[in-house]
Amino acid sequence: MKRGCAAWKYKNENNAMMKQRSGKTKIIPHSRPTLGQAEIESVSRVMATSHIAQGQVVYDFEQAFAEYLGVKSAACTSSGTAALHLVLKAMGIGEQDEVVIPSYVCTALLNSVEYVGAKPILAEIDPDTYNLDPKDVKGRLSSRTKAIIVPHLFGLPADIDGLLALNIPIIEDCAQAVGSTYRQHFTGTFGKAAIFSFYATKVMTTGEGGMVISNSKDLIDRVKDLREYDHKDEYLVRYNYKMTDIHAAIGMVQLDRIKTFLRRRRDIAELYNQAFDSFGLQLPPQNKGHIYYRYVIGLGTDAEVLAKTLQNQGIGCARPVFLPLHRYLNLKGYYQTENAWEQALSIPIYPSLSTQDIDRLIDRCTETFRKMA
Ligand SMILES: Cc1ncc(COP(=O)(O)O)c(C=O)c1O
Repeated sequence: MKRGCAAWKYKNENNAMMKQRSGKTKIIPHSRPTLGQAEIESVSRVMATSHIAQGQVVYDFEQAFAEYLGVKSAACTSSGTAALHLVLKAMGIGEQDEVVIPSYVCTALLNSVEYVGAKPILAEIDPDTYNLDPKDVKGRLSSRTKAIIVPHLFGLPADIDGLLALNIPIIEDCAQAVGSTYRQHFTGTFGKAAIFSFYATKVMTTGEGGMVISNSKDLIDRVKDLREYDHKDEYLVRYNYKMTDIHAAIGMVQLDRIKTFLRRRRDIAELYNQAFDSFGLQLPPQNKGHIYYRYVIGLGTDAEVLAKTLQNQGIGCARPVFLPLHRYLNLKGYYQTENAWEQALSIPIYPSLSTQDIDRLIDRCTETFRKMA
């Protein structure tokens, strides 16, 4: 089965929902967007104008997003991957350069580095947070290192101070972390630039979509120049990575709802923390800045087996990272990443999860964890 970073999960979840609708199995999907009437009306308003490509709504969304995070500039893109590609290009990164990324992440990061012809250097994670370990990153730097891409994985802020201390430009990857904070400031505001993904099941969505933000207006201007190819005086290899007004119309409403989304995620996480506290499992760090895009449990045993057990009971669970990047590249080592990949299980957490679903999930999980102990 071909399974991309997020798309395969969504496809499986859709299948699960179809089964649910047909009454065969009552499955709680691993992830699901939270959409309502306001999104439908917002899209309808754009459709009624007939201006459905990149236009005013995209520009409004960029401005609203930059204001929300308190940064100078933002540029919408067609995906988080496109955002990463363009930011690397705009920073002038290319052949002969090296970019450090974690191994424990989806292939979008590896692809973006490959797109610009740079060499990806894979680094280890801190086993307590699943985020990049600055000590390990330090050992992998060279005179060719031009950037470190720092995901705030599962919505938990990475060790930004430790990484900034390495004096290499940082691109924050907030694809899973809209609204998370580090030292009371939004993640995405610490590096040279940051990227976001608005894929269907992300913290907030536009269906597909992404954003680059930065306090450097120059950098964002370069991103905007590169994301569209037409009406240019000079030829450069450029792209068609634009977002449409239809997508931005969804994004505007989702951004309005972001505080409610984050509160709900944190409330659900708190219920899980209480319910699973006594099983000796590795629960997510209780960090005030965490937004719990994923609720990831370190099991101390193979996650695949437990995922199947819970799936059979109607709980959509998954390894949160499909395959670590060092495996694709046939690199040895990466002990912490291997360990995390082996044992980490992600259970459903999203704003549209009903109280009944949460109760059922807690019930099934506690029963399974008890049997495991
Ligand atoms: C950490 C991270 N970075 C980047 C991306 C790429 O985003 P997109 O799927 O919008 O291209 C993802 C997507 O799942 C992600 O999880």
